[in-house]
Amino acid sequence: MGEEGFSSDSSLLYHRGVPSAIVDATVWELGDVATTPNVPLVPRHLKLHDLFGEDWKAVDAVTGRRLVLGNADVRIFYVVAGETSPLYRNAVGDECVYVESGTAVVETVFGALDARQGDYVILPRATTHRWIPTGSDPLRLYAIEANSHIAPPERYLSRYGQLLEHAPYCERDLHGPTEPLLVDGTDVEVLVKHRGSTGVAGTRYVVPTHPFDVVGWDGCLYPYTFNIGDFEPIPGRVHQPPPVHQVFEGDNFVICNFVPRKVDYHPLSIPVPYYHANVDSDEIMFYCGGNYEARKGSGIGQGSISVHPGGHSHGPQPGAMERSIGAEFFDELAVMVDTFRPLELGEGGRAVDDGTYAWSWSGRGPAS
Ligand SMILES: [Fe+2]
Repeated sequence: MGEEGFSSDSSLLYHRGVPSAIVDATVWELGDVATTPNVPLVPRHLKLHDLFGEDWKAVDAVTGRRLVLGNADVRIFYVVAGETSPLYRNAVGDECVYVESGTAVVETVFGALDARQGDYVILPRATTHRWIPTGSDPLRLYAIEANSHIAPPERYLSRYGQLLEHAPYCERDLHGPTEPLLVDGTDVEVLVKHRGSTGVAGTRYVVPTHPFDVVGWDGCLYPYTFNIGDFEPIPGRVHQPPPVHQVFEGDNFVICNFVPRKVDYHPLSIPVPYYHANVDSDEIMFYCGGNYEARKGSGIGQGSISVHPGGHSHGPQPGAMERSIGAEFFDELAVMVDTFRPLELGEGGRAVDDGTYAWSWSGRGPAS
């Protein structure tokens, strides 16, 4: 299994069966993955916790995903799961699935990964796997599905691929599968998400032997987890721009995380961010822990997404600047995706848009 036409990372997997064997192929209907433009162009607050009710116990982490936002480079899904998912692989691109809460075992063709709150689970394109929730709490997943590969920022890597010493994490923070996972079975169903004429499409295969038939593998391409708690923040005497929070990147987007940290320590510093016009990107922030100082008073809380589109400047809500003076520590946790092409709203995003966030800086809107 290799990337970029035998010219990039690869692994050798030693299968017991023939990995190309299939005995049936039918269409897998993906559900509503259409998107509509963010028009009129306004900042938005999407309340993801309103997407799933008490029925989460019957939902699985793959087929239950609801599309929140997307464009031609990346799609953001949210799901609250209680059921084991079907066997699945995403042939469109890599997945970076952030575990907001709950625990799971992610069984893959390379072996099993334990996933817990705060983990990013990186699943390379076309890695056959399934999600098995463990424990009694709902498994809340924020799934970032790329059309490309997802990797550590290039500026943190040596020319041979090692994480450099100034990187906010290193190899010991990445956890891959530890041993083979062998499962017997015949005529097993595998769902495959792949490229299609409208962006993404699905096919349901039946394979004669269980895809978890790999007795061993070696190489540098494999799924892994990285916990957000292992990200070492990079503080400054004055405000540090968002790239210091970057954790991963894909084609035309970056993933950043805001973690609990010491804040700007110049005696005259204003610790909350300055107002900024992100003219080349849409910024979406998923609030997944702590208190987010700059957004106080906007209604944003745990499970919220803020959408700050390119073409609209944004910054602290009224009063947040003054309140932040003298603060030494922010106890906040958020995962940000910045895209260089505009994001459109999926059905999930439209369903939980609070409709009022755009007016939160002025204190009045069209309805008042
Ligand atoms: Fe921003």
